[in-house]
Amino acid sequence: MSAVRRTLPLLAASLSALLAGCATDGDGTQLDLPVDPSTGLRIAAIPPVPPLPVWPDNPTTDAKKELGRVLFSDPRLSGSGQTACGNCHLATSNFHSGGPLDAPDRSFPAITPTLHRHAPSLLNLVYAPMARWDGSHFTDVADLMVLPLAEPNMNLSRLPVSAGEEIDLPAAQRNLRATLTTEIPGYVPLYQQAFGEDITAVTPARLWRMTGEAMAVFVRVAVARDAAFDAWNAGDDDAISDAAKRGAILFIGKAQCVLCHDGPLLSDFEFHNVSTSVPDAQGRRPDDGRFLVTRDEADRGKFLTPMLRSAARTSPYLHDGSEVAIRDVVAHFTGASGQLDPLNELSILPALTDDEIDDLVQFIKSLDGATIPVADLAPPATMP
Ligand code: HEC
Ligand code: HEC
Repeated sequence: MSAVRRTLPLLAASLSALLAGCATDGDGTQLDLPVDPSTGLRIAAIPPVPPLPVWPDNPTTDAKKELGRVLFSDPRLSGSGQTACGNCHLATSNFHSGGPLDAPDRSFPAITPTLHRHAPSLLNLVYAPMARWDGSHFTDVADLMVLPLAEPNMNLSRLPVSAGEEIDLPAAQRNLRATLTTEIPGYVPLYQQAFGEDITAVTPARLWRMTGEAMAVFVRVAVARDAAFDAWNAGDDDAISDAAKRGAILFIGKAQCVLCHDGPLLSDFEFHNVSTSVPDAQGRRPDDGRFLVTRDEADRGKFLTPMLRSAARTSPYLHDGSEVAIRDVVAHFTGASGQLDPLNELSILPALTDDEIDDLVQFIKSLDGATIPVADLAPPATMP
């Protein structure tokens, strides 16, 4: 667990910070940790979200953002013609799916099994150095945003029924080119405005990339920042409740959540086994997670540490959407809960009281980001 080793000194520093300071709780815990003048923060392990990244190869323009918005909401890009990205990543609901597991595409809703993973929120994806529950297919945000057009998510009817996780990228790229140039020619001028290129004259691979770039620019609106926690962390004593303050102190201290959930986005972007896909008597897990990508036995049952900003708003949770209440997820991380995986990394975590779990939940709620203007999220008024 390299992440854990990396974070331990920082944890010790945070704990020692508890020893100096002012206001205290009933049991003597100092709630308003001192602001460290060198960082301007009480808890340096959880700094504010930085400004949006600059993408020199994919500069943001209004035309590109609008094209991305249209593409994100267009069901005609899917094999069935009925599924848009926004069906599973609802823009006006933190870009997440309210259901545990969605049906792939809408081609045969009655007979297709559901996808086996939960559709995560796309909030703060633009900052993520790693994504997807098992890290598969990760290169950059633009590639990630167009990939679903080659996956069962949106393309079930164009894949052989047995294809499962397999993707046929060249075929998906040819299909997309036909859709955007022949079936819906109204897209040609939109790409011309956004990229200054005539998509009837570019290769399918180039058009694929442009499509991902436009949707990546659109998803820059999906940022959870400026939480109440950030105000408290920068010195405003009144920004969050005492319970949330106690939760923050637990998070970086006794409960040790910060070992994996650290940094501005509260993720180390590494893969961990936290006993969420435990083997049965035959040793088979419902989902092998990171192992499916690396084929390393040690990676069985590992999943990417999710970012936690606005997490209180994105139920259900975990890679399979199996937990509905955020409190139950937090309770899972208390050492003794549930069946432990032989490969689990949780045995280091202490048991927590019900009150402590409640405080952690209040802390997570204090990470809710400022509201994103609805005008930035709404589907386009007209489609090409
Ligand atoms: C039928 C539901 C469904 C549709 C439609 C869908 N997705 Fe997803 N999406 C998922 C699921 C499930 C995952 C999780 C996959 C995994 O990690 O194994 C996911 C993961 C992602 C991720 C990775 C996010 C992360 O933090 O790991 C991105 C980005 C994404 N989808 C964007 C899109 C875009 C853009 C579209 C439209 C082109 C789209 N999705 C269409 C269900 C869907
Ligand atoms: C060893 C690393 C590790 C530690 C320590 C850890 N987590 Fe996590 N956390 C994860 C991973 C990995 C997942 C995703 C597991 C899955 O989806 O199956 C996760 C998922 C979560 C989720 C669900 C997020 C979502 O969107 O699905 C919450 C909430 C959470 N953790 C909070 C906490 C809290 C609170 C603590 C401390 C009590 C904690 N975690 C300790 C690694 C860790």
